[in-house]
Amino acid sequence: MTLLEIFPSLRSGMPSPRVDTTVWPCETHYDDLGRITVGGVALADLADQYGTPTYVLDETEVRRRCQAYRKHFPDAEIIYAAKALLTKSVAGWVAEEGLSVDVCSAGELAIALAAGVTPERIVLHGSGKPFAELETAVAAGVGRIVIDSLTEITLLSALVQRPQRVLLRLSPGIDVHGHPAVKTGVADQKFGFPLGSAQAAEAVERILRQPGLELVGFHCHLGSQIHDPDYYGEAVRRMVAAMAHVRDEHDVLLTELDLGGGHAVAYRSGDAEMNLYVLADILDDALDAACARHGFPRPHLALEPGRAIVARAGVTLYRVMTVKHIEGGRTFVIVDGGMNDNPRVALYGARYDAVVANRHPTGPHMTATVAGRYCEAGDILATDVRVPADLRPGEILAIPCTGAYHHSLASSYNGVGRPPLVSVDKGRCRELIRRETPADLLTRDLG
Ligand code: LLP
Repeated sequence: MTLLEIFPSLRSGMPSPRVDTTVWPCETHYDDLGRITVGGVALADLADQYGTPTYVLDETEVRRRCQAYRKHFPDAEIIYAAKALLTKSVAGWVAEEGLSVDVCSAGELAIALAAGVTPERIVLHGSGKPFAELETAVAAGVGRIVIDSLTEITLLSALVQRPQRVLLRLSPGIDVHGHPAVKTGVADQKFGFPLGSAQAAEAVERILRQPGLELVGFHCHLGSQIHDPDYYGEAVRRMVAAMAHVRDEHDVLLTELDLGGGHAVAYRSGDAEMNLYVLADILDDALDAACARHGFPRPHLALEPGRAIVARAGVTLYRVMTVKHIEGGRTFVIVDGGMNDNPRVALYGARYDAVVANRHPTGPHMTATVAGRYCEAGDILATDVRVPADLRPGEILAIPCTGAYHHSLASSYNGVGRPPLVSVDKGRCRELIRRETPADLLTRDLG
């Protein structure tokens, strides 16, 4: 018998050795029964109350991450990239913490507005914004629209009644060596205009010719999961040079520089993440140097973190359906969720950890692949994870760092509705999004 088994109360309030606090929410502990708690609530209780799979979101962790950005970048505008995760509550929390919100569709705009986010603090993105969505955004009075194509300039100029502030999206030719699906800083991809290209110059000229459009600055987004801050320093140098070029050519002073998001988080123990302290230093130095070099006034900086605000605040709960030892093959732990609630493994080869949440396992462990319930062999949630060798159907597996691009990327493949999203905070839980049921699926099916 271990000391913890003799005195279970020793566990209470201590961080669990099963959970790495760089990957789990800060408020992760375990209770007297050895169960993992987040935000003061036992994950196993949440699984019982809301069923599985369920997305759990620690409100304090989201707010802390917002506060960390505000602290490290006191002069910058922090714009939360809502595509990572958006609900009315999440929009409300980030707005309360002083962040602006980046939306990329009429749907996200509607949620942000319903949450009471000031339109002025909303930025609209998108590589193919439909006319109706531009119309809605302009009518709502969004603060800035990030122009991504020449067509958009024509459409926007046709519909604005009063001056609309816009940013122009440029790709600064910086290859962050990420997954091709999320690499956006290089020239040959669908977003924006290559910096220094004839098309970029034409876009600037066309915007400046439109009395209804006010070009306030440039935008770039280098990609995802970037942990080397030097890429952003290089982006600053290139973008400020381009802003100085506009001043020299057109006698127009651009005042805003939006560097997009893409700051890496750790999905598993030991993964590299962006160090905000170092990033702030590098951006500061790069701005000083670039502005001095071009005799350019320091622009207002904007950053658009999405993942870095919400990823670590999220934990997804699954119930084990079966454990299968394939003769001559792997051991599969099959759970009641999978690629519908987390398509990131299939899409980008993302790697996750999985931990049993309903007890403190003391016996031997085995290496297993956590697979989902859906009809595809690629429906995998985690490979080569260590789980208790006596793991049984009905137990709860928790996968940490699932707050970003999980709920927002979910589907209802195989007719399985999307999971609920439950927030936890100081021992209390609240359902933010309810589970999608077969009745919901039937409501959309008009026969
Ligand atoms: N700003 C813009 C213009 C973006 O396109 C994005 C993400 C962000 C900010 C926020 O990036 P973040 O800080 O969250 O990395 N589904 C993929 C990620 C796609 C990101 C698309 N754009 C994934 O699950 O990894």
